[in-house]
Amino acid sequence: MASTIVNIPSTVPSVKGFENQNYVGLRPISSLKFNSARTSIFGRSGPLFVARACKKFDGYVKKAEMSIEECEAAVVAGNAPEAPPVPPKPAAPVGTPVIQPYQLTRRPRRNRKSPALRASFQETSISPANFVYPLFIHEGQEDTPIGAMPGCYRLGWRHGLVEEVARARDVGVNSIVLFPKVPDALKCPTGDEAYNDNGLVPRTIRLLKDKFPDLVIYTDVALDPYSSDGHDGIVREDGVIMNDETVHQLCKQAVSQARAGADVVSPSDMMDGRVGAIRAALDSEGFHHVSIMSYTAKYASSFYGPFREALDSNPRFGDKKTYQMNPANYREALVEAHEDEAEGADILLVKPGLPYLDIIRLLRNQSPLPIAAYQVSGEYSIIKAGGVLKMIDEERVMMESLMCLRRAGADIILTYFALQAARCLCGEKKLT
Ligand code: PBG
Repeated sequence: MASTIVNIPSTVPSVKGFENQNYVGLRPISSLKFNSARTSIFGRSGPLFVARACKKFDGYVKKAEMSIEECEAAVVAGNAPEAPPVPPKPAAPVGTPVIQPYQLTRRPRRNRKSPALRASFQETSISPANFVYPLFIHEGQEDTPIGAMPGCYRLGWRHGLVEEVARARDVGVNSIVLFPKVPDALKCPTGDEAYNDNGLVPRTIRLLKDKFPDLVIYTDVALDPYSSDGHDGIVREDGVIMNDETVHQLCKQAVSQARAGADVVSPSDMMDGRVGAIRAALDSEGFHHVSIMSYTAKYASSFYGPFREALDSNPRFGDKKTYQMNPANYREALVEAHEDEAEGADILLVKPGLPYLDIIRLLRNQSPLPIAAYQVSGEYSIIKAGGVLKMIDEERVMMESLMCLRRAGADIILTYFALQAARCLCGEKKLT
């Protein structure tokens, strides 16, 4: 019988800022190099993982000079073989007070003593499979940098986008969400371009599904990129955002996206009753298999500024406070969550992310549904800016912020860091 020997080192290589790796289901990376028992994929050399099949344990068990019985007899006779002594207690610096140790029944530091122990007791894990990568697309052929979001681009839907999706998939990120920059000439007060089957988003979905059939495509359902008023809904003469008329448009938008091949439609508009209406519209067109991720608790936040610059989607007047939630409110998130659950949402989303960890935890505790967190543009830009100014370690703060969103209860995270963070988790980036 063939047997397998697996040697795993006691200290697993660390992700920058974290003690261990927790990721699964990665696609093979072309840069992975295994040379026999050594590998450098984690930016270090050294034996990491050896899997060997052999007939017997030959070469593994050293040829014995004494039988087991002889060894045992020697120990019984008091002639135990030598083993290294316990090392002497390391010296404390001169001047350290000499004291009686405190009588503590619990010393929580014991479980944090070494990298291996810390890895054993780590409660939360993070993997590229948890990320959804938001991507900005436009009709152009070139990729244009977004000033307020260093590292992010409006991608040409036919070239830059496809390349970026391929890069993400290479490190295990197989979910994206699309945000279109719509030409001004196609915008109108009722946002009709939102349900043009040959519009930028449906066209892009068809192209991506053709190239990557197993890619998971999320779409944004809201009128703002298509509205000449820059609002998520239809604006009445007196400035009121019309609820039910907007929902009617959103249903057409969601069905158009589903027809193109979207896997998950994500209403981010915060109109009342839109989840139930979209569910009914999808089902009546035969799209029972298309999921709804509802932006359940979306706050009227100033953290969306860079995103609105990216899409040129700032409201032309007023603000979004009559539909997005008041950042001061906690219990109101439960009202929204109960509605979305009852109306058939498949995933509940909280947005923004880091400043709203309590809301993520609230929904996690109150609902059996998967919870998504959106680390929004402003959160991303703050971390990037801090890194550029050398005020913080960008990658450590990035990984910590994502881990904290997971710890608060998010199953998936929409984050502009998806590719960069996945590369860190895969060890593609050099670790320090
Ligand atoms: C609009 C929408 C917004 C974001 C996602 N969908 C902006 C807004 O509500 O004004 C923001 C995302 C981000 O800031 O990263 N429906």
